[in-house]
Amino acid sequence: MATITHSIQDVCEALRRGNLAAIPTETVYGLAGDVFNDIAVEQIFVMKKRPFFDPLIVHVASVEQAKSVVSAWPDTAAILAKAFWPGPLTMVLPKAPAISDLVTSGLPSVGVRMPKHPMTLEVIEKLGKPIAAPSANQFKKSSPTTAEHVVDEFPQTDLLILDGGPSDVGLESTVIGIHESDSHCEIEIYRLGAVTERDIRKVLGDVKITQKSSAAAPGQLGHHYMPKIPLVIFKDRAQVDDSAIQKKLTFKTYVDLELNPNPVIAARELYAKLRECSRSQREFIRVFRDQGQGDQLWDAIWDRLTRAATFDFSK
Ligand code: TXA
Ligand code: MG
Repeated sequence: MATITHSIQDVCEALRRGNLAAIPTETVYGLAGDVFNDIAVEQIFVMKKRPFFDPLIVHVASVEQAKSVVSAWPDTAAILAKAFWPGPLTMVLPKAPAISDLVTSGLPSVGVRMPKHPMTLEVIEKLGKPIAAPSANQFKKSSPTTAEHVVDEFPQTDLLILDGGPSDVGLESTVIGIHESDSHCEIEIYRLGAVTERDIRKVLGDVKITQKSSAAAPGQLGHHYMPKIPLVIFKDRAQVDDSAIQKKLTFKTYVDLELNPNPVIAARELYAKLRECSRSQREFIRVFRDQGQGDQLWDAIWDRLTRAATFDFSK
């Protein structure tokens, strides 16, 4: 049985022994292991049933620590760290030799972020080294935003879960690549999140920002973030009566996912609501695309919902 704890000490001891522990962050809960212990890192993939080609994010408690896991720290990284860390921004940079290929899935780069949660920052500080942590869910499933969600994902294990309350942001971090040369800097967004293109532009000024998916960030493949029952996206309520769509849908009973009109709250509540809908004893979840639009945080929310959907009739 997984155990929920409030003891930072116990979590540090578990990590020191080479065991895993779930840790709270402002985005979602992470399944953490000592980044320098290959057996612990391997165990992260095994427990999540995550393919070894999907690299892990390294979590640090200071800029100094971030510099110790990369082999280059461009000026742009320093500026973005100053603006957004601790916070929901992961920067992909050339990796230091100390970071094993297991963490980066053989890539020459590593994703680094400083999470904004005092308990997890204390864990990393006390441990004295960074931790590798993907979201604490089974591969392809919805991310956990409470300690109880983590128990749901790993019920039959002796995993220690540090309870830091519900995650404030609720969506996984924005993942970016930085390509800096003497004359020029380009940012690639691999995964949308609460740090938006507009936020980055405010800090960096007139820089080239592109959005890149799948190939560059292996974790961005196809179906992801899926709830336990199928999620179906409709353009709006009227589309439900479309006979062509009705023919395609074999499910009958449904529950509606209502999104808060404020995208900050909608993001915070998203995964808890998907889990709640999954427990509804209905056959599928309906969500309407006309519920939220016009803000870059909505783009991140719809990015997750689109990947989580079994059918998307809004396209
Ligand atoms: O908010 C978050 O980022 C959470 C919390 C726990 O920090 N973590 C998280 O990890 O969402 P995970 O493993 O579920 O997603 C990591 C994403 C994946 O899409 C992965 O492919 C990408 O980051 N990634 C990690 N290292 C990378 C690298 N070197 N190059 C490109 N993409 C990378
Ligand atoms: Mg994940």
